[in-house]
Amino acid sequence: MSHLFGHNGAENTGYSQPEGLACATKPVVPAGLVRQQPARWPRLSEPEMVRHYTWLSKRNFGIDTGFYPLGSCTMKHNPRVNEVIAQLPGIADIHPHQPEHHLQGLLSIYYEMQHMLEVCAGMDQVTLQPVAGAQGEFTAVRCIQEYFRLRGETQRTKVIVPDSAHGTNPASAAMAGFEIVEIPSRADGRIDLDALAAVADETTAAMMITNPNTLGLFEADISAASEIVHQAGGQMYYDGANFNAILGITSPGLMGFDAVHFNLHKTFSQPHGGGGPGSGPIGVKAHLAPFLPGPLAARREATPEERTMAVDEHWYHWHQPEHSIGKIQQWHGNAGAVIRCWAYYRRYGNGLTTMSQHAVLNANYLRHAIHREAKDAGVDHLFVDGAETEVAKHEFTLSMQPAKDALGISAMDVAKGLLDRGYMAPTVYFPLVVPECMMIEPTETESKDTLDTFAKHFVQVLKCDPETLHEAPITTPVRRVDEVYAARNLCLRHPFEDA
Ligand SMILES: Cc1ncc(COP(=O)(O)O)c(C=O)c1O
Repeated sequence: MSHLFGHNGAENTGYSQPEGLACATKPVVPAGLVRQQPARWPRLSEPEMVRHYTWLSKRNFGIDTGFYPLGSCTMKHNPRVNEVIAQLPGIADIHPHQPEHHLQGLLSIYYEMQHMLEVCAGMDQVTLQPVAGAQGEFTAVRCIQEYFRLRGETQRTKVIVPDSAHGTNPASAAMAGFEIVEIPSRADGRIDLDALAAVADETTAAMMITNPNTLGLFEADISAASEIVHQAGGQMYYDGANFNAILGITSPGLMGFDAVHFNLHKTFSQPHGGGGPGSGPIGVKAHLAPFLPGPLAARREATPEERTMAVDEHWYHWHQPEHSIGKIQQWHGNAGAVIRCWAYYRRYGNGLTTMSQHAVLNANYLRHAIHREAKDAGVDHLFVDGAETEVAKHEFTLSMQPAKDALGISAMDVAKGLLDRGYMAPTVYFPLVVPECMMIEPTETESKDTLDTFAKHFVQVLKCDPETLHEAPITTPVRRVDEVYAARNLCLRHPFEDA
């Protein structure tokens, strides 16, 4: 079996259309745009199609294939009930252009989802429009930018980020036109308040930070940091990628933040990886709400006539914020992702707190299991914790620098060795402040047995002959790839042989 395009031009067809449908509403296509030759679609029968996609799926790795401890990415189980709900006809078959009285069900779900996220974040208004965490970051910093522009504070051109920040934070702020000011973390990996105070001034627009931070450490000084930034007149932005550690336990609002994004595709189980589809809602305090991209779901009391069409005593409608920065995504964001995440939250209810507690418990259990296994096997000198702390939050970092120094085994070698044992590799070389970093996030949905077995395999990899590890992976469909080449030389089109 090879790829589908290899069958181009075969005689089979894999589709049939109702008689007359194809030409009933013939579109008027300008003559210059009409194809001169038939499209090079592969022509395949249904079984051939099914085999192709099944073959492709077997070359891939996903959360349904095996343990996926990808730090910062929160790859948790995607409950199938969410799919069932997202595919209900009243949800899947509606079009955003339908009139409001057709959309009452969807609008009420959007409204409830906005409100639930507002409560979780301690914010006043949420928009569900952004479709990725990074897009949420960009949207929020644009709102902050417009807020200052309207106040005449155009000198606020700088955004502060700690050196442990995820790359999307400075990238989003730079895309919006801000200058980035990076501050060093303390030796223990946490925020350095003196360094922050030294740079926060009348040119500061915002500080962007995640908590727990990218080392999996809770920033206990976060309120003091908020105070420093607010006293300088700036805004605090919370990167919500690490919400899985704090949901229902504390909130960015309580920590003094003004704006936040969620990664619904992480915390709320929307399937992701390989580029999406994601959902990155943002929440803001009231003073930033007029700048949000619209439309937002809103509601008022239904009139007697509306009650005959309403889902409850309210009439749900779209609302455009007064000073909106404009649209940042077509329609209403990734509606399917929002629905799946709403279904997830509805099943958890107040249990979201337990979810976070289990995520933290699993991370700490795995961290200690790896240390224990390594000690028993006599290889505990080959790595050190990325942070000097007893308890991590939902993820933790290990530095493989000692293995590199002693045996030439890099974090990348260990990651590739894990692939040969049937695991997705943890995140590597992030955060940058930890040398030869491996960042491990098991999530709450993994069993003790899975964690124990992974710890054993992790240690077995460390005991491998370094030369063998440099060659890993040897069992995967593709061996070690040149990631830099792949990123710099994107090839997004199938190279037809006769092209
Ligand atoms: C800490 C952190 N912030 C922001 C992002 C960006 O989120 P997204 O991938 O949804 O754009 C990520 C993604 O991995 C992250 O880990």
